[in-house]
Amino acid sequence: MDSHDNKQDGKYSKGLEGIIIGESKKSYIDGERGYLAYSGISIEELAEKSNYEEVCFLLLHDRLPLKDELENFKSELYSYREVPDLTYEIIERTAKYPVHPMTVLRLAVDTLPVYDEETEINTEEANYRKALKLISRIHTITAAIGRALRGEKPIRPKPDLSCAANWLWMHSGKIPSQEEERIFDIVLVIHAEHEINASTFSARVVISSLTDIYSAVSAAIGSLKGSLHGGANEQVMRMLIEEIGTETEIEKFVEKKLKNKEKIPGFGHRVYKNYDPRAAIFKRLAEQIAKKDERVGRWIEIGNKIEKIMIEKLKEKRIYPNVDFYSGIVMYYLGIDIPMFTPIFATGRIIGWVSHILEQLKDNRIYRPRIIYSGEKERKYIPIEMRR
Ligand SMILES: CC(C)(COP(=O)(O)OP(=O)(O)OC[C@H]1O[C@@H](n2cnc3c(N)ncnc32)[C@H](O)[C@@H]1OP(=O)(O)O)[C@@H](O)C(=O)NCCC(=O)NCCS
Repeated sequence: MDSHDNKQDGKYSKGLEGIIIGESKKSYIDGERGYLAYSGISIEELAEKSNYEEVCFLLLHDRLPLKDELENFKSELYSYREVPDLTYEIIERTAKYPVHPMTVLRLAVDTLPVYDEETEINTEEANYRKALKLISRIHTITAAIGRALRGEKPIRPKPDLSCAANWLWMHSGKIPSQEEERIFDIVLVIHAEHEINASTFSARVVISSLTDIYSAVSAAIGSLKGSLHGGANEQVMRMLIEEIGTETEIEKFVEKKLKNKEKIPGFGHRVYKNYDPRAAIFKRLAEQIAKKDERVGRWIEIGNKIEKIMIEKLKEKRIYPNVDFYSGIVMYYLGIDIPMFTPIFATGRIIGWVSHILEQLKDNRIYRPRIIYSGEKERKYIPIEMRR
């Protein structure tokens, strides 16, 4: 078939909008009503009643664990927290350069296969173990990156803390309060999984060639870094803190951006044509925090105003806040610096990536789509000395 026929057949869709790329049991999105569920359980219920470890089990096994299964799962997960010295060294040596911490994260994750004797072993059991190692070790790595950005030495993980508490411990050197642990756990749960977004798709495409899991996760990190994907949370906070001076200027600020055809970070979504349920959870959480923290209260006020103006002005386009709009406020409250927001997204999303990778491997076919060739089809080769 001529490649131009792809377009005529209606198979071409820019950005793959509306294209189905396979089947998955990981998450279900109803974009019209703003509903998201992991393996059938709504994100609201999981954020309220579950925790990150249980969500990891759910996404890996497509069901909730029994009590002893969860205990065994946690023991195994926590046993993989240590990372090689080389990983810490790479973090320390690269974090001082003017590169984004997501680049440091990718470089650090790329050290892990070197020390894993199972890297090139492609059995189901070995791949499952690698998935657990990646979940635990990315947590250790991002906490160490947060410290390295402040010129501080890494703090080693504790084997007996929950994922959320351990991360906050490794990041700040203080055992978190129950409230801080709970808030960070919700941050991890909400970021855990989101169907076939750009980074998860990247991971599935890469693993489909039957390469190793580390390569697929490395690609996903590179994809998440971008400002149209995970990078938006950082831009939202910079907008709230640095770009918007006084609240009275908000309307003018939004109007100017829209007039210049600039996007407001933290708004819009390919799938949600209603309020992103994750944004609603973060907003509620931020509103609770605002009762205790004045700064948070002010950001919420600014956020509310931007939200009202955006929904009103872009009514026809059905643009609403997405996950990144209020998440930064919550992370900032926990003492997490702005450049670390996207690495935190990755810290939660690692479970989504690895569970999709394992799912892809269970019923794999290499991704090999087509592209419309838009250049000249037959040209003569001109020797270099005759070219003009
Ligand atoms: C999320 C996003 C990448 C989805 O992209 P997409 O599905 O390709 O949608 P488009 O960029 O084509 O947007 C559709 C229309 O809505 C407008 N729009 C979308 N998001 C917008 C935003 N944040 N601010 C202003 N206008 C926006 C677009 O300008 C476009 O208008 P047009 O049809 O007149 O050209 C996009 O909404 C965006 O760039 N948002 C800001 C970045 C962000 O928050 N990313 C995190 C996603 S979780």
